[in-house]
Amino acid sequence: MKNILITGGAGFIGSHVVRLFVNKYPNYQIYNLDALTYAGNLENNIDISKASNYTFVKGNIKDIDFINNLFKKHRFDGVIHLAAESHVDRSITNPNDFIETNILGTANLLNAFRDLWQDNYEGKLFYHVSTDEVYGSLGKTGLFVETTPYDPQSPYAASKASSDHIVRSYGNTYKLPFVISNCSNNYGANQFPEKLIPLFIHNIRNRKSLPVYGDGNYTRDWLFVEDHAMAIDLIFHKGKIEETYNIGGFNEWTNLNLIHLLCKQMDEKLKLQEGTSAKLITFVKDRAGHDKRYAIDATKLNRELGWKPSVTFEEGLSKTIDWYLENEEWLNNVTSGAYKDYYKKMYD
Ligand code: NAD
Ligand code: DAU
Repeated sequence: MKNILITGGAGFIGSHVVRLFVNKYPNYQIYNLDALTYAGNLENNIDISKASNYTFVKGNIKDIDFINNLFKKHRFDGVIHLAAESHVDRSITNPNDFIETNILGTANLLNAFRDLWQDNYEGKLFYHVSTDEVYGSLGKTGLFVETTPYDPQSPYAASKASSDHIVRSYGNTYKLPFVISNCSNNYGANQFPEKLIPLFIHNIRNRKSLPVYGDGNYTRDWLFVEDHAMAIDLIFHKGKIEETYNIGGFNEWTNLNLIHLLCKQMDEKLKLQEGTSAKLITFVKDRAGHDKRYAIDATKLNRELGWKPSVTFEEGLSKTIDWYLENEEWLNNVTSGAYKDYYKKMYD
């Protein structure tokens, strides 16, 4: 029996990680700690909410006393840390939220973990979930490998880079056992519709314009969220202490090509005449400091732990669209209220 803390488990990726661990490891007690910010949603965990090995804890990683007490009470053997402010555009408008949660919040968890186990770290692990954005932006060629120097370009990326450095420094200074993974762009069910794919699905559904930043010739490497969750499971159990693993889809798309594929699939699924959704594409002002290209080399994870993505992008995208079309109520709930103000400020 182990007590595992998963932070940010009511968010997009965290909810898939929580589901996987609760279902796959009945001998683990899974604690999902989440502040339920605008991005956290208990509906994301509704299917496992009554499982006997699952507990939801509402709380903020910025609250030092609360975090220390929680660690003392449950004596977590493992931590999988996903809680973060995660949207680049919001980090441009409001960087301090990112500095506080992503940097100070991570430090609070590390301190609590260190204080609990520093006399004997045997069998303990702090897993920090990070992003490929810490490496900065690529030119036309090349891939991010684990040794690529950090060069973060947005306040979000800088806050994640900073948290990665702090985690590694605790490994070096206090011998705290950690692993870090840096993943590319995720897509799939339960992603908040501020990110490209769910935002555009929602807009097509509502016949609203599709705001493409700049000329749309930016490249991202897309990974199906369930494949990310499976990689996290593998690294948590088989990864080497103090190692970093890059996770990616070997799946690069320019935004425009991706959007055209999405429009085509939406036309088919909504039984619209071919080309209908693409007519909604509107070029808008570019994101400030927009990173040109991300692409991950996930060879190490494949070679050492045997991981590879399980679905093609076309399959994953089709599954994703189906989920959003079948879960209209989820989408309606998260796009009411504060979302409307956010959308107005961002896009009107
Ligand atoms: P998300 O925004 O969907 O979810 C974040 C979750 O963290 C939410 O449930 C939110 O309520 C919670 N949270 C935020 N601040 C908190 C705080 N102060 N205390 C407690 N909980 C808090 O994010 P996501 O896309 O699921 O990303 C999860 C993690 O994976 C992040 O660390 C992110 O940097 C990383 N990541 C994301 C992607 C991606 O494409 N989405 C890719 C690589 C890495
Ligand atoms: O690479 C991993 C990162 O991927 C994660 O660490 C972040 O948490 C996650 O948000 C994501 O960052 P991006 O900025 O790449 O994702 P986003 O979905 O916001 O944007 C994807 C691309 O689409 C990017 O080039 C900007 C563009 N875009 C986005 C939005 C929301 C648009 O053209 N229009 C939009 O309205």
